[in-house]
Amino acid sequence: MKISVIGGGYVGLVSAVCFAQMGHTVGLIEIDIDRASSISRGSPQIYEKGLGVLLSKHLEKSLHVSTAYDAIPDTDISFICVGTPEGDNGSPDLSIVQSACQSLGRSLRDKDSYHVVVVKSTVPPGTTEGLVVPTVLEHSHRAGDEIGFCMNPEFLREGRAVEDFMHPDRIVIGSNDSRAGDRAESAYRGIEVPIIRTGIKSAEMIKYASNAFLATKISFANEIGNLCKRLDIDVYEVMKGVGMDHRISPHFLDAGAGFGGSCFPKDLSALIALAQSLGEEPLILRSVLKVNERQPVRMLELLEEKIGSLEGKRIAVLGLAFKNDTDDVRQSRSIPVILELEEMGARIAAYDPQANDNMKKLIPDIEYCSRVTDALKDADACIVMTEWPEFSLLDEEFDLMKNRVIIEGRRILSCQDKEGICW
Ligand code: UDX
Repeated sequence: MKISVIGGGYVGLVSAVCFAQMGHTVGLIEIDIDRASSISRGSPQIYEKGLGVLLSKHLEKSLHVSTAYDAIPDTDISFICVGTPEGDNGSPDLSIVQSACQSLGRSLRDKDSYHVVVVKSTVPPGTTEGLVVPTVLEHSHRAGDEIGFCMNPEFLREGRAVEDFMHPDRIVIGSNDSRAGDRAESAYRGIEVPIIRTGIKSAEMIKYASNAFLATKISFANEIGNLCKRLDIDVYEVMKGVGMDHRISPHFLDAGAGFGGSCFPKDLSALIALAQSLGEEPLILRSVLKVNERQPVRMLELLEEKIGSLEGKRIAVLGLAFKNDTDDVRQSRSIPVILELEEMGARIAAYDPQANDNMKKLIPDIEYCSRVTDALKDADACIVMTEWPEFSLLDEEFDLMKNRVIIEGRRILSCQDKEGICW
């Protein structure tokens, strides 16, 4: 197939490269000139396992990058993969989706055959039919039966996005007419997983409900973990036993400092805003966020319990990325921890194997260390905020600290004298 992908961010770039790997011819449209040119040079601005190799393999062969929409009419199907950042009241800002639809519509004016537009961006239920369809049709001047519309959410985890694209648990295709849905489905031919065909609004909701449920599992594990700590019970032992019930599953039950990233907090806020706009009170969703906001505070309470006032103390913060295997710091739990530490007068020495530079852009005025030992040297205490595997073997390095006060926000260390946030 000939596929166009609109948006060269994390979802669009991974999708474009993976569609090329599946044998399709792909045109990637990225209107940001800097981002487009770095993709064209084969060096994407994101750190994603396996992406660089596949990008170099297909660039200028089956994958072409452009800043303009000119090539869209030559393709059979377009995937909209632009950002939907959090807006003012928690609901997503859909202005980028809207302007992508205007440009896409204009580019389809002169096409004389059927085209399918697929929304991959995470959008609230009703957006495809209420915004995407009318905008594309208005700007294309074409009739509704000449362009088909689908919604096909992504479930890609950062750091494992290529693997997740090629080996998903399921593919969801929402469409209101089977011709459009069949074409979208055929883009995934070769991936042997169940494909679930739904209505467009259901597909939009599946994405939000999935992320909200996963976030709920984490906050649930954290609440049980906080209880377990008081009772001197190992929450990891508990969740191992709980997760063996196939109705629950063992995944996403790792208690700790809470969830961050570009999806869970944003999608939960969007669902909460949606519920409110409908006059529904989202009790569970609100609690999930509240538990998540409290976890970082617990790290600091534990720290104060151990070393008293933090005024003037040197605190090593190990891990800045919102999880391991990424340099992304968006909504990282280390952000509220660092800001509060600063507020309390602590001196912070931060280290992350990948994310120092990104955190520096957000919080410039703390010490960033290029080695874990530099951060630990003379520290009064150390807190671990990201589950980087390289932290797992740290032990003698902690002897560089004034005292070995080690608090773990992620269950990753193997040394003996550490204390966990909820274990
Ligand atoms: C998530 C979803 O998994 C993915 O399907 C969706 O498309 C985008 O959002 P991602 O944000 O990349 O992916 O991260 P994920 O691996 O899900 O982890 C999110 C956060 O939860 C991290 O901060 C991680 O540390 C935390 N987490 C995860 C826990 O605290 N406990 C767990 O058991 C799992």
